[in-house]
Amino acid sequence: MENVFIFDHPLIQHKISLMRDKRTTTKEFRELVSEVSMLMAYEVTRDLPLKEIEIETPVAMAMTKVLAGKKVALVPILRAGLGMVDGMLNLLPMAKVGHIGLYRDPKTLDPVEYYCKLPEDVTEREIIVLDPMLATGGSASAAVTFLKKRGVASVKFMCLIAAPVGVQRLHRDHPDVPIFCAAVDERLNDHAYIVPGLGDAGDRLFGTR
Ligand code: PRP
Ligand code: URA
Repeated sequence: MENVFIFDHPLIQHKISLMRDKRTTTKEFRELVSEVSMLMAYEVTRDLPLKEIEIETPVAMAMTKVLAGKKVALVPILRAGLGMVDGMLNLLPMAKVGHIGLYRDPKTLDPVEYYCKLPEDVTEREIIVLDPMLATGGSASAAVTFLKKRGVASVKFMCLIAAPVGVQRLHRDHPDVPIFCAAVDERLNDHAYIVPGLGDAGDRLFGTR
């Protein structure tokens, strides 16, 4: 699969397995989502541009590299994307955070938008859209379409678990958007839940069911 980056790091795989276990508590689940997001942030930001600066170490003058100031915005899809924000901000403390509220209509499975608040300078930023689950791909695709309509040029999509059809849908609608995920599972069930997946990510994060 082109433009899909699957994280096979043992720490990430271990934590994803703990998240899948239905006995994992809400508190543990929330911690795991945050930890995995932080571990993934390292690789998702690999292509951030650097520039050379001159500094004085205690020993000598040196030319050395720092981030070139490319600005990043994290855009979690509400609700479940919220669980990934803190982990990402640990590594990207200067990032701004926008929010897009979408839920899947249980009958049509189409995404319904109910909230949007983005940083004022969103068009100048590299956007990382966050959502733990990429199932049919409807929510992710709608969120990216929405951002592009607002003039955003550079978008990455980061999730924890994807279904093959979701990956295909997001690629079909937005071939320019790379997908970063920790696992690509087998399939969707009749309710468009990922199998084996981890259940409803929002409910597990916030203890609503
Ligand atoms: C979940 C999940 C994604 C979406 C994925 O949200 O967090 O946003 O489903 O499904 P899709 O790829 O088929 O669109 P949900 O709609 O359950 O809303 P919630 O986060 O408010 O629970
Ligand atoms: N949303 C979830 O939270 N889980 C799934 O398996 C599919 C969509």
